[in-house]
Amino acid sequence: MENFIAHNPTTLHFGRNVCNGLSAALKPFGNRVLLVYGKGSIRRNGLYETIVSQLKENGFVVFEYDGIKSNPVVEDVDAAAAVGKANKVDVILAAGGGSVIDSAKFISIAIPYEGDAWDFVIRKAKPEKAVPLVAILTLAATGTEMNMFAVVQNHSSGVKSGYGHPLLYPRHSFLDPFYTATVPATYTAYGIVDLMAHTLEAYFGQGDASLSDRFAFSILNEAIEYGPKLMKNLDDYDLRARIMWAATCALNGTPMHGRVSGDWGVHSIGHTLSLLFDTPHGASLSIAYPAWMKLMLPRIRERLEFLGRNLFNVSTAEECIDSLTSFFELLGSPVSLIQAGIEPSKHHLILDSFRNNKISGAHHRMTDDDYSKLIDLMK
Ligand code: NZQ
Ligand code: ZN
Repeated sequence: MENFIAHNPTTLHFGRNVCNGLSAALKPFGNRVLLVYGKGSIRRNGLYETIVSQLKENGFVVFEYDGIKSNPVVEDVDAAAAVGKANKVDVILAAGGGSVIDSAKFISIAIPYEGDAWDFVIRKAKPEKAVPLVAILTLAATGTEMNMFAVVQNHSSGVKSGYGHPLLYPRHSFLDPFYTATVPATYTAYGIVDLMAHTLEAYFGQGDASLSDRFAFSILNEAIEYGPKLMKNLDDYDLRARIMWAATCALNGTPMHGRVSGDWGVHSIGHTLSLLFDTPHGASLSIAYPAWMKLMLPRIRERLEFLGRNLFNVSTAEECIDSLTSFFELLGSPVSLIQAGIEPSKHHLILDSFRNNKISGAHHRMTDDDYSKLIDLMK
């Protein structure tokens, strides 16, 4: 087991009506709020009204930046940071899924900075301070609500990149599963895939951490047991709650402590697909995981067998991969490029992007030779 520090500064408010405590959480930071949200789901499900009426009643001044797109782009981050700077906001309130909260994380460090937010990603600048961030999560998937990571795309440089810094932890995150009931079946499935993928990235990382393995199996088994039930009962509060908490735990350190690192090779494959084809994040992972496992089979056979015994009660590595693939299909998430509408004529674009971005895992390295095999296994 490796040395590690367990420190997570986000205060998580989980359950029915927790958003009633929003004003009390924002108050210590000041009264000028930048509300960041996406393309309108919070207006349709009533969350916008809940937020704005509460903030107005409590004397907050609210500025808005909306229209954050799924697979968010750096241009929105810079434009929102300009709104924050011009209005001297004290605190950012992000209401939405991972794309909104990730954008808000970048906005929080971009407001006190003079240059472009992309400078942080390319390591041209280090964040010195951040405007405090409070998040309301409306989609169970990414774990961004309780971690220090954010992901953004830059189409001009052809990169979708993750970025991590301790200043990016939200100060508070509010998770009321009620507000996730309106997430459509597609994104509900992608969210379940994503939480499983985060757990698997930890599991296939480097290092021997038996308790973290057991936490990983628990999170994965929660998804395997309740995910399909949720897909049949999308507005069931209790099932939404189970999946939401599992998604938070998948990327808040729980299955990770005691390892050298996670792997994250599958995420780098997925980010390429999202960048090129706007493939939803979870969908990119259900395509990439089975292919990656087949590619890595000789290197990870024992880990796959151990996984298969604990998740699907199967004994061989091949059966484990097949069971996981069937599970993704059962959820309704694509398991091949063609199922996601990515035609063979586009394969060369994937290969070029793999090469340009030198995609790899931190533990299981991928080489140029692996890239074409991977595309073949995903097709
Ligand atoms: O834009 P709106 O109108 O809000 O609609 C969104 C969007 O169309 C909709 N949605 C969200 N909550 C809803 C809802 N629709 C109805 N009811 C609700 N309650 O769902 C669509 C997808 O939202 P998005 O935020 O893009 O999805 P997700 O939460 O999966 O976030 C994906 C992004 O997070 C990054 C991904 O790469 C991707 O860019 N990730 C962030 C991570 C992190 N920060 O730790 C780790 C992950 O591995 C991931 O890379
Ligand atoms: Zn992910």
